[in-house]
Parts: sequence; C-alpha cells; structure tokens
Amino acid sequence: MRLEIKGLTKKFGSFTANDSIDLVVEPGEIHCLLGENGAGKSTLMNMLYGLLTPTEGEILLDGRAVTFDGPGDALAAGIGMVHQHFMLVPVFTVAENVMLGHEQTYAGGVLNRSAARKQVRELSDRYRLAVDPDALVEDIPVGVQQRVEIIKALASQAQVLILDEPTAVLTPQEIDELMGIMRELKAQGTSIIFITHKLREVKAIGDKITVIRRGKVVGTTPPSTSEAELAEMMVGRSVSLVVDKDEATAGAPVFTAEGITVIDPRGHMVVKDVSFEARAGEVLGICGVQGNGQTELIKSLLGLIRPDAGRVELDGKDISRHGPKESLAAGIGYIPEDRSHDGYVGAFSVRENLVLDLYRTDEFSAGPALKLDKIAANAKARIAEFDIRTESPDALVSSLSGGNQQKVVVAREFSRPLKVLIASQPTRGVDVGSIEFIHKRIIAERDRGTAVVIVSTELDEIYALADRIAVMYDGRIVATVTPDIPREQLGLLMAGAAPEGTEVAS
Ligand SMILES: Nc1ncnc2c1ncn2[C@@H]1O[C@H](COP(=O)(O)OP(=O)(O)OP(=O)(O)O)[C@@H](O)[C@H]1O
Ligand SMILES: [Mg+2]
Repeated sequence: MRLEIKGLTKKFGSFTANDSIDLVVEPGEIHCLLGENGAGKSTLMNMLYGLLTPTEGEILLDGRAVTFDGPGDALAAGIGMVHQHFMLVPVFTVAENVMLGHEQTYAGGVLNRSAARKQVRELSDRYRLAVDPDALVEDIPVGVQQRVEIIKALASQAQVLILDEPTAVLTPQEIDELMGIMRELKAQGTSIIFITHKLREVKAIGDKITVIRRGKVVGTTPPSTSEAELAEMMVGRSVSLVVDKDEATAGAPVFTAEGITVIDPRGHMVVKDVSFEARAGEVLGICGVQGNGQTELIKSLLGLIRPDAGRVELDGKDISRHGPKESLAAGIGYIPEDRSHDGYVGAFSVRENLVLDLYRTDEFSAGPALKLDKIAANAKARIAEFDIRTESPDALVSSLSGGNQQKVVVAREFSRPLKVLIASQPTRGVDVGSIEFIHKRIIAERDRGTAVVIVSTELDEIYALADRIAVMYDGRIVATVTPDIPREQLGLLMAGAAPEGTEVAS
C-alpha cells in the first residue's frame, strides 16, 4: 500500500508540533524518520494511527484520502503501530494481549481464545517471531514483548507498520533479530516507518531516510548518507560523535560494594556476590546484556531494594541500611534505567521535577517555606542548559517527548554536588546532539573528582565513557577490563564466554 502525507499540521494550542509535513512511503519500503527529541516524530505517527486529529492536511492511502476517528479506523485501513512506550497487560498471556487489541475479531468466549492462540502461532511462524501464545507477558524479555506488539499490529493485516523507537530498550542481539523481522515483513510487501535515534540502525536497514527538525521536513536522503551528515541534518550544526576526553586520574575508592547478593521474589539469585570499587575521578562502566543482574544490583546499591547479603560503603561509611532518600542526600546522583518509574513524576511540572529530591535543601527552602523564586530560576537555567524542549516550566513532564523527559532527569541529577554518580542507560531515547552534551557532562563530572558508575547495554556508550569496564554475566562480574579490549572480545565476555588471554585489570 502506498502512503502519502500531504501538508499535515498539528498544533497544540499555539505550539506547532508538525508544520505542513509531506512524506511518501512506497509499498514494501522501510522509511526511517530521524529527528531531535521533540522534533515531532511521535506526533506525526499518532496522527497516522488515529490517536491525534490533524489540524490541517491530508493522509492518502493508495491515492484515497482517509480520516481516522481512532486507532480502530487506522487498523481497519491497514495501518498498525508499535508505540514508544509499550501498552501490554503484564498479567495476561500473549494471546490475551493480542485479543485485547481486536475485540471485534475475537468477541468473547473460549473458542475465540483458541482462535487468538492459533493466529499468534501462525503469525509467529510466518514471520519467524518465535513467540509462545501462552506465555505470560510479565515473564518474557522486553525484546519478545516487542514482538507481541508487532503481532498485535499484524493480526489486523497491517500493510503499513509504524515502529516508534522500537530499539531503545532492546539488547544488540534483540536489535539484530528485529531487523531480521523487518526484512521479512518488507519481503512480504509491508511498508515500515521506523523511528530511531541510532544512526547506525538507520543506515543498516533504511531504504529512505526523512529528517524532521522542529516540526518541519528537512529532507529525504538515501542510506548512503554519512552519520555525520545525518546528525547535522537533524541538529542543524555539526555534532561530534566521539567524546573528547583526557586520561582519567583515578583517586581513592569513594564507593565500594562488597559481596552484594540479591534473591528476587521468585527465589532466583539474580546478583551473585558482586564486589567493585568506584574511584574518584574515574568512570567505571558496567556492561552486560540486559537481564544479567545489573538492574537489581543498582537498585540494591541505592536502597531501592534490600540486598540479601553484602555491604555498600560511601567514603568508608557503611550505607547498606540507607533508603533511597538517604543515599541521594549523602551525595549519590542517580539516573535510573526506567525514567518513568523511578526518575520523574509525570503529573508534576517540569519545574517541580527539576527539584524533586532537592526541594528540602537550604537552596530551595527555608524552614517550611519553599523559595519559589529560586525554584523558578533553577528551572529556567536547567531548561536552557540542557536544551529541554518544553512549552514552559509549568508543562507537565508527561506532555514532553520521551527524550526530553530523560533530559529533565539528567539535568536534575547534575545540579547538585555529587560524590558518586550512578547512571543507568543515561542516554536512552536521547537524540545525537543531546548524547554529545550528556556525555560531555559525565566526563566533566569525572574530571571534577566524582566517582562515576555507568551501566549501559550500548557498547558505543561504554567505549565512549568508561576508564575501566566491568562485565556482568549471569549475576556476576565475570571480568574487569580496560577499554582497549576489542569489541568482539567484550561481546564474548558479555555472552558468558571468557576468551583466552583476556587481560583482567585490577
Ligand atoms: N498532548 C500534547 N500536548 C502538548 N504538547 C505536546 C503534546 N504531545 C506532544 N507535544 C509536544 O510536541 C512536541 C513534539 O513531541 P513528539 O513526541 O512528537 O517528539 P518526538 O520527535 O517523538 O521526540 P522523541 O525523540 O523525544 O520521542 C514536543 O515539544 C512535545 O512537548
Ligand atoms: Mg517520540
């Protein structure tokens, strides 16, 4: 099916999120959309999927103008979408979740449940998705959950499939698998609109690339366009894709973890006797495939969950019994991997979120009274410094684009004196220009003498920042290496195979 968008415009009040967008997607084409955080990509897709009503403009399918009153209409017309934020029900099975999207097709009853299971199995086989219809969604990895979303879209015979930042939460292996699935779909004639911030992915899979900046189309280019050119089209200036940094001068250990062990609620030991030290003026990178205990390790260090064994020290003092509030107050900065859960409060304004765990400090309050002018001035400064794209400091964080929500969390954690910075996936969902900025700030924090711990599943990020790399596999730190280790060797360590001759740094 040929999709044509003509002069599509979306205004939110006086703010123009999409400004007369033109776009053509041919049948069986993988069309990538690139653009800064807040450029208007999700807004455009939400209009295509019937979630938002265009202020002006037209959507044409095979030359016919269509209007959608909701996602049901878009699905019926052959447009499916996998959202930036998943919308599955964790306690339901895969088949039940697929049914949920299509009540019309499977209206009630056991028979229809078995029809749904059959269809999941068929789609899973046809597109090699390897999804078990009877698995509970909460039990399957994120990558597989994403395939469930794809199956949901395909179940209604989508001929145009929208994937809004599907790779932001996937591991490198899962990304390869997703690309395989996309090629399979393309071969069967499905058109795909693919949104990502990773230029490498765009070049690997795209037939065409359209760049959007501040709501307008900048241009459409072939995948042979260089990463540097793409970055410049997005941001409007040249972006340095490598971080400039000097050799670290590591000082004394500031933060140490000793023998941390975590048993999850199901009784599985997910963190197994992990010990490490983070030194002043150094970035320790913890890398590993998602699901190897990093999440639980970090939460236990912050007091978000209680470790079953082990000890955490900050400046030689035992902080093992601290809760998250005390840990933050003691000088630990924290950027959580799941920003919407532990990072911000969506129903609070940008201004409030920028002082979320700080408003009781002397800087922002005197006795019971808040210093509202200081809080306002802080918001203004952070918004400018971190280029947070928001209509106003009063806007709710939930109305911001995904990448800008992340910038709110990062800006807040960088706005107070830190002894230790613990950052999980600090640039998840963030555009290239802002990655450059956040990486520079992390290195500046290191050079100021802060002990930095970065947890990332992105090898590019680990190589860009880390002075030492600890590899986690199956709940343990299996090796600590220096960043001159070749990518393939690091990959092998992450997969649980310790290659011979790996230099293990102290
Ligand atoms: N419902 C809404 N009300 C007001 N403003 C909105 C609403 N939805 C989006 N916006 C604004 O429109 C702009 C575009 O947001 P959009 O989510 O489309 O960006 P995006 O390109 O998808 O960014 P990201 O890469 O961060 O996901 C943002 O500035 C956002 O704050
Ligand atoms: Mg978006």
